[in-house]
Parts: sequence; structure tokens; C-alpha cells
Amino acid sequence: MYDFPLWPARASTTAGSVDALFIFLVALAGFMSIAIFIMIVVFAFKYRRRAGHRAEQIEGSVPLEITWSAVPLAIFLTIFVWGAVIYFRERTPPRGAEEVYVVAKQWMWKLEHEQGQREINELHVPVGRDVKLIMTSQDVIHSFYVPAFRIKQDVLPGRYTTAWFHATRPGTYHLFCAEYCGTAHSGMIGQVVVMEPAQYSGWLSGGIISGSLAATGETMFQQLGCPTCHRFDIQGRGPNLQGIFGKPVQLEDGRSVIADENYIRESILSPSAKVVSGFKPIMPTFQGLVNEEQLTALVAYVKSLTPQAGGGAGTPNISSPVEQKKE
Ligand code: CUA
Repeated sequence: MYDFPLWPARASTTAGSVDALFIFLVALAGFMSIAIFIMIVVFAFKYRRRAGHRAEQIEGSVPLEITWSAVPLAIFLTIFVWGAVIYFRERTPPRGAEEVYVVAKQWMWKLEHEQGQREINELHVPVGRDVKLIMTSQDVIHSFYVPAFRIKQDVLPGRYTTAWFHATRPGTYHLFCAEYCGTAHSGMIGQVVVMEPAQYSGWLSGGIISGSLAATGETMFQQLGCPTCHRFDIQGRGPNLQGIFGKPVQLEDGRSVIADENYIRESILSPSAKVVSGFKPIMPTFQGLVNEEQLTALVAYVKSLTPQAGGGAGTPNISSPVEQKKE
């Protein structure tokens, strides 16, 4: 089945279960279509017009009605539960996954690893590890689609969406944009290169790296003057950002939100949208001052201030923020 030309390679942990459900749906639809066709032919013969034969009207039958209600209900509920289980598993990135930031634009994919490696239209990942993608678009809606992994996720401007996969076979697989995004949409393609762990570490250590993503973010944090208010030693005019990632935040208007990537992003671009309880809405917006990639770095830095927030690949060479808070 694997070499069947209509079937893309199965190279992730979810591919098998997605295919199983797909095959079940096709088989079910095929069975129903064939059964209905046979019935049509059989009944056309059996009840054809003949002298002395008349079809009889059946005036209701409780067992028959229960059967034709219960059987489809059971089939549909099976499809629903089966599909929901796969959906929730695909929608929930496992903890400790390696994180890759994706910025889509007309018409290319820009990818950035936690360790600082940047790629265009090519994503290198290790086999046998969970990889989480944190994605946003610089312009219109795109969609990150890797058939061999059976994952497809829309990439939207103005917010982060996530997807994850666990590659099971080394190889090179297609990456497509699956949302019509303009003239060169069909050219917005790339490849995902799945490597053996040793090969991958070799790849990671090669090339020119300007430091980890979080370290880049830290530099920006200093340059933009954020530490003036967001202090780590004493309570500043803005909240202390250490240890907040992934935790609930109490807001001034009584709401409580989880400090995830989208929250940090929004707090940088529209600071007054969600003001933390006990603080004043004095922070200026950084809309237009930072681009998507710089935002990504800032988000990665704020995340790194919370130990084991995500970042499975570790965040080495980041000194404790307390040590370098010289302004
Ligand atoms: Cu990007 Cu289509």
C-alpha cells in the first residue's frame, strides 16, 4: 500500500491513524453506493409491471424504523468519536516538543529554529522527536501542508497558530501552501528534510548562527528599552515577566487569561488590550516597530524566562536575566 502511487508516504505517527479513518470512510461510502445500486436493479426487476401483480403498501413497521434509525446512528457516532480522537491528538502539541517558528509570506516559508538556525522553504528536523510549529503570516492567509505527515494548518496574519508532528522515517517530503494566496501560490512550496538524530545535530552545529532565538530576543528586549519597566529585580511599572509563560494572568478587568504565545504577541502589539491587574495601561504599542521575525524572537525570549515552559531542545547559552539586567 505504501508504494501505491496515489498514496503519499507515511512518515509521521499520525499518518497511520488518519489513513485508517480515511480508508474506513471510503469503504463505507463504497459499500453503501454498491448496496443501493444493487437494490435499485433488484427491485426494478422484482417489481416490474406484470399482469396480475401489484405492489403492496406497507403501513409502518416499528422494528424496521428502529433498525434504520439505530444502525446509521451507531455508524455516525463511530465516525464522530474516531475522528474526534484523531483531531484532538493532532491539535494538542506534546510537552517538551522541539519548537520551530514559521513566518509565511507571499510567497515563501521562513523557518527559524530555537537554536537560531534560519531556513527558507526548507525545514530540517530530526526523526523520532516531537516538533511543534508556531506559525504566523506577514500578509495573507497561507496554509502549512505536509502530506507525508498528514498535517495541514492555516497560517494567519495577526496571530499564532500551531501544529505538530513526530516524523518516523528519514527522507525528504513535500511542503505545500494549501491556501490560495495570490499569483505565485503554486510556487510557494518547499521540503521537509527528516534526518537521523546524529546527522541532525551535525546540521544544527553547521552554518552561521547568530545565537539562539531567545538570545536574539533578549538583545531586542534591551534595545527597545523594555527593561526600563519590566524589571526582574524589583517591581517595575510593568509586570515582571519571569515565570509567567503558560500560567494564568489576572487582568485589570477581572478576566483571567493564560500567558501563551498569542498573549505575549498581543501584549507587545496592543498592550492596552489586556492590562494586567495592578498595572496602568502606559505601555506604548510596538506595532510597526518590530517585524514578524523580531516578534518571534521576543516571544521566544519571554518564554525562556520561564524554565521548562516548552523548549525541549533546551535554551543553552542564555544567562539568567537577573545577572544581566544592567541598563
Ligand atoms: Cu501561500 Cu498559497
